[in-house]
Amino acid sequence: MTFTDAERAAMRRALALAATPGVPLGPNPRVGCVLLAPDGEEVAEGFHRGAGSPHAEVDALREAGEAARGTTAVVTLEPCNHTGRTGPCAEALLAAGVRRVVFAQPDTNPAAAGGAETLRAAGVEVEGGLLADEARALNRSWTFAVEHGRPFVTWKFATTLDGRSAAADGTSRWVSGRAARLDTHRLRGLCDTMLVGTGTVEVDDPALTVRDETDQPLPRQPLRAVMGLRDLDPGRRVLDGSAETVLLRTRDPHEALATLFARDRQHVFLEGGPTLAASFLAAGLVDEVVAYVAPMLLGAGRSAVGDLGITTIADARHLHLVSAAVVGSGADANVRLTLRPSVEPDATTTPEES
Ligand SMILES: NC(=O)c1ccc[n+]([C@@H]2O[C@H](COP(=O)([O-])OP(=O)(O)OC[C@H]3O[C@@H](n4cnc5c(N)ncnc54)[C@H](OP(=O)(O)O)[C@@H]3O)[C@@H](O)[C@H]2O)c1
Repeated sequence: MTFTDAERAAMRRALALAATPGVPLGPNPRVGCVLLAPDGEEVAEGFHRGAGSPHAEVDALREAGEAARGTTAVVTLEPCNHTGRTGPCAEALLAAGVRRVVFAQPDTNPAAAGGAETLRAAGVEVEGGLLADEARALNRSWTFAVEHGRPFVTWKFATTLDGRSAAADGTSRWVSGRAARLDTHRLRGLCDTMLVGTGTVEVDDPALTVRDETDQPLPRQPLRAVMGLRDLDPGRRVLDGSAETVLLRTRDPHEALATLFARDRQHVFLEGGPTLAASFLAAGLVDEVVAYVAPMLLGAGRSAVGDLGITTIADARHLHLVSAAVVGSGADANVRLTLRPSVEPDATTTPEES
């Protein structure tokens, strides 16, 4: 693979365009595109602003008009080959007379794949793989969901120093400090689904919404999902209509994720409690762990995770520490640990995701 310096610089610009603040993290991938003249000068640029809006290539082609003829399109994702709400980008590039296409990440989404082949078959020079890791990291959840056929799962919990998530009487407000709770809202905002078990809804009655520092709900709210077989008290806050809620009448984590995937969900934020966390861990369906450890002791009460069926130390479940950070200060300080299962699905971590 050979890429020019101008193409490398253009791909960096395209990645920055794709990450333009305000562009939703899903369900569509964030994509940027830069059109280069044969001398390496930029002709036009574009990016995708979310489902239903023009794809990045089409956005750039529109800006370029006739000047698109003979250019190189530098795009962060392989041009799509399918007709969704917008037409196939591969055809739009052909119609505009683009000479060469350089892309970062191949599109493995079965509905959209094959754009590179279509372009090559029509005589366009196509090369992929330039800054592919950066492009994958940009759309971490989308990439994971497309490749695994299910959403990425982040299990978040708050624990005391001695591994308790609630006191002996079931109370758990608050294990974590205020800064940690604000940090949690930031992470919730990066996901498209909040998931808890019926037990947590019964005991804690959480709203499961994303709120800012002044406790105001953000305009875009993740889907709220509650998993379990029992009926919920209709007065629970999760049923208050302030965001969409789905009841997953199952105890099977695979089935729950399949239902969410069918609804275009790509990143589940699993917030408890210990029973649900144990069932996802046992099923191998936790892809990332975010733990807020509070400098607090309870000595008794619920363990942060339920029984995993482990009876001897040799069978302990090991995780790979990705980062450790102090959140808050003084009496409010908690330690945030971000961990992954030993097999790394991807390079980036949620707390740093932009
Ligand atoms: N510190 C923290 O981060 C944190 C976070 C959340 C909760 N909590 C605490 O956790 C406690 C609640 O714990 P919990 O374990 O009852 O909550 P949970 O895990 O949210 O809910 C458990 C219930 O979910 C249903 N369920 C769904 N999938 C299941 C599965 N695969 N296996 C078994 N049951 C399944 C069952 O009820 P059905 O009969 O309806 O099927 C089960 O009783 C509260 O004290 C709460 O304060 C702490």
